[in-house]
Amino acid sequence: MIYITIDGPAGSGKSSVAFYLAKELGFEHLDTGALYRSAALLWLREGERNFFDELEKVKFELKNGILTMNGKALGDEIRTPEIGKVVSKVAEMPKVREIITHKTRELADKRNVVVEGRDIGTVVLPDACVKIFLIASVEERARRRYAQYLSKGIKLKFEDVVREIESRDRIDSERAVAPLKPASDALMFNTDSLTLNEVVSKLKEIVMEKIKKC
Ligand code: CDP
Repeated sequence: MIYITIDGPAGSGKSSVAFYLAKELGFEHLDTGALYRSAALLWLREGERNFFDELEKVKFELKNGILTMNGKALGDEIRTPEIGKVVSKVAEMPKVREIITHKTRELADKRNVVVEGRDIGTVVLPDACVKIFLIASVEERARRRYAQYLSKGIKLKFEDVVREIESRDRIDSERAVAPLKPASDALMFNTDSLTLNEVVSKLKEIVMEKIKKC
């Protein structure tokens, strides 16, 4: 089975790129940010009591591109500014990382899949065939996230979006367990002045070449 990993900071375009790249290749797409965002939702709903037990019990499934949590498709409820504010704090907990890493490996098992996140190439699937690390400036990433919030009818100040991105980048990069960083064998790819189409077609070319050797 072939694993392709896409890691990178908040708003670097991982989700859209991974989605279209997987589609082009006929692979499954797994967004691990959605797993951490679901853990954050559980944390906000349940509080500290029983949180780890409840998280262990959660059943994630991935079928035909749809990620479900206990049978329910995950949607906009995990992509709110409230979740954005707490998700990195929840994701920093070693126990949360252990549980989600285990669940991610189970979901990816025996599949051709594009898996995106922060630590996929370094920790979760270190033997992946192709590893990509996306980069883009903070301004560009904040512009993308601001537009996404607006398209969902969520109105925020641009500065607040910049702050969310910077704060998550800091916590994600500085945490002790599985910090955000490129794997030593990852391909660094800057998306700043490129359209989504350009990024996907360039990466498809690179990936097609690399998977011949996996
Ligand atoms: O879409 P965006 O780039 O804003 O973030 P995401 O991929 O949805 O991830 C949300 C948060 O989950 C990140 O800021 C990390 O704190 C955490 N995360 C992680 O720690 N490890 C992963 N493999 C994926 C996400």
